[in-house]
Amino acid sequence: MTDRSDDAMRPAGTADRVLTNRQGHPVSNNQSQRTVGSRGPATLENYQFLEKISHFDRERIPERVVHARGFVCYGEFEATGMIGDEPASTYTRAKLFQDKGKKTPLAIRFSTVIGGRDSSEAARDPRGFAVKFYTEDGNWDLVGNNLAVFFIRDAIKFPDVIHSLKPDPVTFRQEPNRIFDFMSQTPESMHMLTHLFSPRGIPASYRHMEGFGVNTYKMVNAQGDTVLVKYHFHPRQGVASLTAAEAEKVQGKDLGSASKDLFTAIEMGNFPQWDMYVQIMEDHDHPELDWDPLDDTKIWPEKDFPLRHVGTMTLNRNVEDFFNENEQIAMGTGVLVDGLDFSDDKMLVGRTFSYSDTQRYRVGPNYLQLPVNQPRAAVSTNQSGGQMSYYRDMAPGQNPSVNYEPSIHNGLREAERQPNNPPEITGRLTRSVLERRNDYVQARGRYCTMMEWERDDLVANLTDLLSQCERDVQERMVWHLLMVHDDYGTRVGQGIGISVEDVAGMAPLDGQVLTDDDKSRLEKLG
Ligand code: HEM
Repeated sequence: MTDRSDDAMRPAGTADRVLTNRQGHPVSNNQSQRTVGSRGPATLENYQFLEKISHFDRERIPERVVHARGFVCYGEFEATGMIGDEPASTYTRAKLFQDKGKKTPLAIRFSTVIGGRDSSEAARDPRGFAVKFYTEDGNWDLVGNNLAVFFIRDAIKFPDVIHSLKPDPVTFRQEPNRIFDFMSQTPESMHMLTHLFSPRGIPASYRHMEGFGVNTYKMVNAQGDTVLVKYHFHPRQGVASLTAAEAEKVQGKDLGSASKDLFTAIEMGNFPQWDMYVQIMEDHDHPELDWDPLDDTKIWPEKDFPLRHVGTMTLNRNVEDFFNENEQIAMGTGVLVDGLDFSDDKMLVGRTFSYSDTQRYRVGPNYLQLPVNQPRAAVSTNQSGGQMSYYRDMAPGQNPSVNYEPSIHNGLREAERQPNNPPEITGRLTRSVLERRNDYVQARGRYCTMMEWERDDLVANLTDLLSQCERDVQERMVWHLLMVHDDYGTRVGQGIGISVEDVAGMAPLDGQVLTDDDKSRLEKLG
């Protein structure tokens, strides 16, 4: 538990380990309910039994709609005071980055995405990498994954991509045909699929994987100047993955292999560490690039946008209670501190609504009063009440009758405004896709930089699932993979009995935008 829990609020009567009920009444018989005679009917006034069983009946809250299986631990972030070779203050006024050696406590939750709360941690699935920094200016949540990119670039498509990956609503089985029915109509997913079906798709453990913020954020400095930024975490333990065959063996024995590994390492004092880096870009739309900086299906090439070291994260403490700290932790992309900001990345904007919306439903409207979610900074709001509220966020000396602002009677006042000068944006209200889509180029780059055994693994993994799909879906997938790379498409096609000739002549999808390079590849296909 975080040390913000208020001991004064806890019942004190259990010091001698006498069992009590939740009203603090000692329980002298925990073996039998109250009945008339030893075989007789039970009585309704049996408060102790009713309290125990009705609490048990409510022991679960809804699991997360995605990332249901995960594991939390705690640690700290130590800043270098720099962003690469420059003082951190050049780009951001966020306090946690400013001084060399400054430490900020944090909680992290690693997770899988698609499976339910008790599903396998050795599944082929992206991994969640969600960090809650308890900074002096309030919480900062960085909710990312281990693969650097995502399947889609507009939040309105999120329920669709997740429905395709989750079990069929009729059979409740995860069906390859549903997954690839959606993906084959979604060319921007080819980059993420190429990562996911490569050996990187099953990390060996949570300790041995990278973390990425994925979406594009901003940093803001003291003058209010903004830059675009991407976040990276590199494990000092190295990156390690499992092949499908290795994963089968692991999950045959233990569905919770990754959380066990993490918990055990921390218990043994073998504290995992990650170096944190950022990539930085000037804050405009970069017409010189043939992809959009606000597109989360793209990485920013490191040769053009170098990694700049900002600090190190060390994980050094386990949870004390899985439910309180793992099931009730609530992170979201809206949770930023001064000096960090949103970009107009359309995924990020949609995510920012979704997280706190689901948490109000999943945990309750006062989820921020729970110890694991409470900021370490002072919280002073005029919001109170609601289910399970147990204190008010009052500032010292605040008049308790003044829960409105402005007031001349010792109420809360606004904080000082900080400068923020992002570029001006103009445009017509529209519903449209980013213009620079270039859906295949980075998947191609990824395919080309893989080692031969990684390509073999990728082809085998895709072939395995695509062989369970219907012909139309198979053909469209092979067509996309040929658009990515001849060798990639040809080899997956061979694995499922589809030749280049079978898909030659297929037209692009309705509304699909091809680059000149894509067009010449299409012509070559015939
Ligand atoms: C969890 C929505 C995209 C990473 C969740 C949850 C929702 C959600 C509703 C459950 C949160 C909870 O119950 O506390 C969305 C939407 C997205 C999106 C609407 C797209 C528009 C992404 C992307 C990433 C990501 C692109 C990776 C960069 C995560 C992680 C969690 C999560 C790591 C688990 C957080 C935890 O451990 O508590 N997402 N998500 N999501 N999402 Fe997303």
